[in-house]
Amino acid sequence: MKRVLLFLSLATVVVVASGAAVFKQPIDIEAKVPPLTGDANRGAYLARMSGCIACHTNAEQGGAPLAGGLALKTDFGTFYSPNLTTDRENGIGDWSIEDFARAVRHGVSPEGKPYYPAFPYPFYGTFSDQDIADLWAAFQTVPPVAQPSKPHDLGFPFGMRDGLKLWRAAYLDDTSFVPDPEKTEK
Ligand code: HEC
Repeated sequence: MKRVLLFLSLATVVVVASGAAVFKQPIDIEAKVPPLTGDANRGAYLARMSGCIACHTNAEQGGAPLAGGLALKTDFGTFYSPNLTTDRENGIGDWSIEDFARAVRHGVSPEGKPYYPAFPYPFYGTFSDQDIADLWAAFQTVPPVAQPSKPHDLGFPFGMRDGLKLWRAAYLDDTSFVPDPEKTEK
């Protein structure tokens, strides 16, 4: 009997440990963007209309455009929008357009970590490749600001980013938008 118990507890440890390892695996999402010429003016318009600038600028405290730091209070804790300027260290200056597309359309970081939906990427999945190219062109014009992104202040267990994979599995419709050729554009 003792042996059976020992075996069962060892088996449990192995299953839990490998489950945790799988859980920690980066999310592997291809984010190819065809080589398109981006229109920075249209991108700036999209960034205004989609709330990117409002949410990623701490305007109340005189923060630089897109340098982040705006506090977003939620029931889970306070999120701080990150720095999206071209600063290589503190912003997204060393990102590729694919990194950008993966983040904005799929909510996945360059390291394969899920983003919190406080960043409303579930609404941005329908951006076309041209929208992404235009936004990217606009973001390239943002001067670098050497201001580190502030860590979020979240209650337990919401601080565990990998837990978001459960939320993604339950709620996120991650299929890409495919236009219906029968319909007109407007
Ligand atoms: C309601 C506020 C809000 C809006 C609107 C918003 N974001 Fe964000 N964004 C956030 C927050 C909060 C995070 C941090 C998410 C996290 O840490 O998981 C974030 C993260 C990001 C990141 C990842 C940055 C990094 O350092 O990893 C990118 C890129 C980004 N947003 C781009 C955009 C773009 C482009 C738009 C507009 C199309 C936009 N965001 C609109 C709140 C917002």
